Amino acid sequence: MTDPVGPDTPPEGWTNPLRDPRDKRLPRIAGPCGLVIFGVTGDLARKKLMPAVYDLANRGLLPPGFALVGFARRDWADEDFGKVVHDAVREHARTPFRQAVWDRLAEGIRFVQGTFDDDEAFDRLCDTVHALDRERGTNGNHAFYLSIPPGAFPVVCKQLARSGLANQDTPGQWRRVVIEKPFGHDLQSARELNAIVNDVFPEESVFRIDHYLGKETVQNILALRFANQLFEPIWNANYVDHVQITMAEDIGLGGRAGYYDGIGAARDVIQNHLLQLLAFTAMEEPVSFSPEELRGEKIKVLRATKLVQPLDQTTARGQYAAGWQGGEQVVGLKDEEGYNPNSTTETYAAITLEVDSRRWAGVPFYLRTGKRLGRRVTEIAVVFKRAPHLPFDETMTEELGQNALVIRVQPDEGVTMRFGSKVPGSTMEVRDVNMDFGYGLSFTEDSPEAYERLILDVLLGEPSLFPVNAEVERSWQILDPVLERWAAEGTPEPYPAGTWGPHSADALMTRTGRVWRRP
Ligand code: BG6
Repeated sequence: MTDPVGPDTPPEGWTNPLRDPRDKRLPRIAGPCGLVIFGVTGDLARKKLMPAVYDLANRGLLPPGFALVGFARRDWADEDFGKVVHDAVREHARTPFRQAVWDRLAEGIRFVQGTFDDDEAFDRLCDTVHALDRERGTNGNHAFYLSIPPGAFPVVCKQLARSGLANQDTPGQWRRVVIEKPFGHDLQSARELNAIVNDVFPEESVFRIDHYLGKETVQNILALRFANQLFEPIWNANYVDHVQITMAEDIGLGGRAGYYDGIGAARDVIQNHLLQLLAFTAMEEPVSFSPEELRGEKIKVLRATKLVQPLDQTTARGQYAAGWQGGEQVVGLKDEEGYNPNSTTETYAAITLEVDSRRWAGVPFYLRTGKRLGRRVTEIAVVFKRAPHLPFDETMTEELGQNALVIRVQPDEGVTMRFGSKVPGSTMEVRDVNMDFGYGLSFTEDSPEAYERLILDVLLGEPSLFPVNAEVERSWQILDPVLERWAAEGTPEPYPAGTWGPHSADALMTRTGRVWRRP
């Protein structure tokens, strides 16, 4: 058999035999291009980005001459960086390791040593990129992935402009920039950041990563709502009582002090992931799934979204204290390495929103997230009103709750419908039951990792799953009053690790006669 990963330049009509022809989910292959990653020594690059690049290569979705360039301060040669990528791939890649795929990818790996303020380093990067265009046929098409603290965005953008790397003047060639959150820490700083980035890269070349949008289950919200007749007629205030969007994690924050202390749960997760989930859940049907139409609907619904007042009763925040998790005793945030012992950073946040539209008038959307909670689960629960009339004796429906449709984003990806059913026996007793769809049962192939999908979309120039400026700024505008209030409040309410958050979060629900789901 011939080597399946063959020569650098594919012969005409070449198709990659490593691609499973049944795999229709990521059918487009990126054209000639390269990816430059800033921040290659960080956790994200090691655990997510490099493995995702390999997984794409393994699935035959990268061009044969693809190049991966790392830029960092370390005194590494190309081979050293190659070893770092190799180890990251062996440890974290989703798909099996294949030597032939690796060997091909490794041929295109380069490293440029330098700091962000070093002009010469960026000139060397420029030379490296040009050399790759000649040697690997990357054709002047390059994406720059800024997996670095936002404080460093301005200097790197400036360097990319100065060195000519951001130059898009040559027809048929593209340059794109990929930025990781946080996109600022409030509306004002987000605007400043966007201005700096847009000064160098036009908005259509800016790809802001919200990795939740790369998840299959999140994209499935659109399929569930708009490909079916079953749900949309009841997806409104006439039938829906409220919506709960939960992103709970059991992990603590040890090792992340540099990023997390002073940022907190609302900025880390609500401003981006959870508001995007709300937008997908509440938006109107787009005319098409073109990037403009999809984003247009998201922006519209975010514009109609506002905080429910008064904030002291409709929001809650907490900070995990010592407790038990998975049979293990764990410390509180203040005792985690690197945190200020007087840290006022919240590790739990809950807010109440409403969407001012005919569809959603009066329906609260409860958003909550936290670390060191009971278990790891992300879900969207659409909870329906009770039937207007129950022709049963009260005792027969004692164990009947509200109907719910739960989109299980992760883990155990799928959808659950909860409704009442007759308990077998001679009496008419009704109790809640679940009807389940599980990805694992209905489909045989694993879903791609979010970063796999999003990196490929960057290389393809497919912007639908990347939030634009207007969404980011609107999300900060929604959240800013809560952040200002909390900043003035001092220490958040403690909750023991392994529980479901502070008492104030429960109070936020019980005041309206509702309860949080215990997933
Ligand atoms: C990141 C947050 O965006 O998402 C982290 O910064 C969080 O704090 C992570 O742990 C969770 O991602 P996932 O894909 O595991 O749900």
